Amino acid sequence: MKALRFHEPGDPLAVLRLEEVPLPEPGPGEVRLRMVARPINPSDLLQVQGVYGRKPTLPATAGLEGLGVIEALGDGVTGWAIGQRALPMGAQGTWAEALLTPASNLYPVPDNLAEDQAAQAVVNPLTAWLMADQLGLGPGQWLIQSAAASAVGKVLIQLGHLRGFKTLGLVRRPEAVQELLDLGADAVLCTDDPNWMKQVAECVPGGAHAAVDAVGGSLGGEMVKLLRPGATMLVYGALSMEPLQLPGGQLIFRTATVRGFWLTDWKKRATPSEREKAMVDLLAAMTSGHLVVPVEASYPLDHWRDAVAHAQRTGRSGKVLIR
Ligand SMILES: NC(=O)c1ccc[n+]([C@@H]2O[C@H](COP(=O)([O-])OP(=O)(O)OC[C@H]3O[C@@H](n4cnc5c(N)ncnc54)[C@H](OP(=O)(O)O)[C@@H]3O)[C@@H](O)[C@H]2O)c1
Repeated sequence: MKALRFHEPGDPLAVLRLEEVPLPEPGPGEVRLRMVARPINPSDLLQVQGVYGRKPTLPATAGLEGLGVIEALGDGVTGWAIGQRALPMGAQGTWAEALLTPASNLYPVPDNLAEDQAAQAVVNPLTAWLMADQLGLGPGQWLIQSAAASAVGKVLIQLGHLRGFKTLGLVRRPEAVQELLDLGADAVLCTDDPNWMKQVAECVPGGAHAAVDAVGGSLGGEMVKLLRPGATMLVYGALSMEPLQLPGGQLIFRTATVRGFWLTDWKKRATPSEREKAMVDLLAAMTSGHLVVPVEASYPLDHWRDAVAHAQRTGRSGKVLIR
């Protein structure tokens, strides 16, 4: 089978190679999925670059999520059937024609959920869902978020509508402002505008009830100044690749909490029933159309170079998928 592998960390376009590898046979408790679609997420690219929290043994097949169809069952696997659609949680190596995974890590996909939506449910929508849970945002409360035009950001905007909390999004491109207002954000500001912090203070008098930051650097630090006393900011990304510059005085006088969120860690700590409940509820919200993750383009595995280059462009309207 074909697998998109890397033998050393580096620039994805330089180190990834589409290689022919043996089709793996499932051992006891395992299943083999025929992969149908996978998104290209920042974490996939960071892992190939060698700067992600999960470092596989090399050579490794890239890709941390995707949708598959079961094509072989190992001994002792019950409750799953060949031909069934499934999502592997915590997978490594989805950018291949097939993936071997423990059956215990699989979640069934509702029949009515479109392939391009299911393929990207397990990383970004689940992260948005869990962060909103952890922040305990109630009706009318304000969440401020950076990188609001990201897949996670767009799900948080839609979750605000579902759960009744308000979202203020920060974006770096002026064109993203109207797009996110159309999606239902309560306020969107471009950090290009020198007055953006003043405008946030006008939109959210008294400060935000919570914040989530995926950018870091000075922006992440500025967001702490926009919290109301006692509020929490979750840091879940470092897109600027700059160290988060936290203002010590603001942390103290606002008695603010800043802590990290990492989905991989949640998966390790959550009980099987907590994982099951989160997935069932999330997939139901996606199937009903309340949560939609846009797709900008799809490429076949053979055209992976075009796909990876496209995924690295700024100003995308949605995910790039490898089909
Ligand atoms: N901690 C976790 O468990 C976890 C789980 C899932 C995702 N994440 C992280 O969440 C973040 C978003 O992921 P995603 O897949 O939702 O993103 P995405 O859909 O690929 O979109 C990335 C967004 O970030 C914006 N952006 C990129 N670099 C930026 C910078 N330096 N300053 C400001 N904005 C910037 C882009 O802006 P433009 O629209 O202007 O190009 C784009 O809107 C990533 O950092 C990812 O690693 C973390």
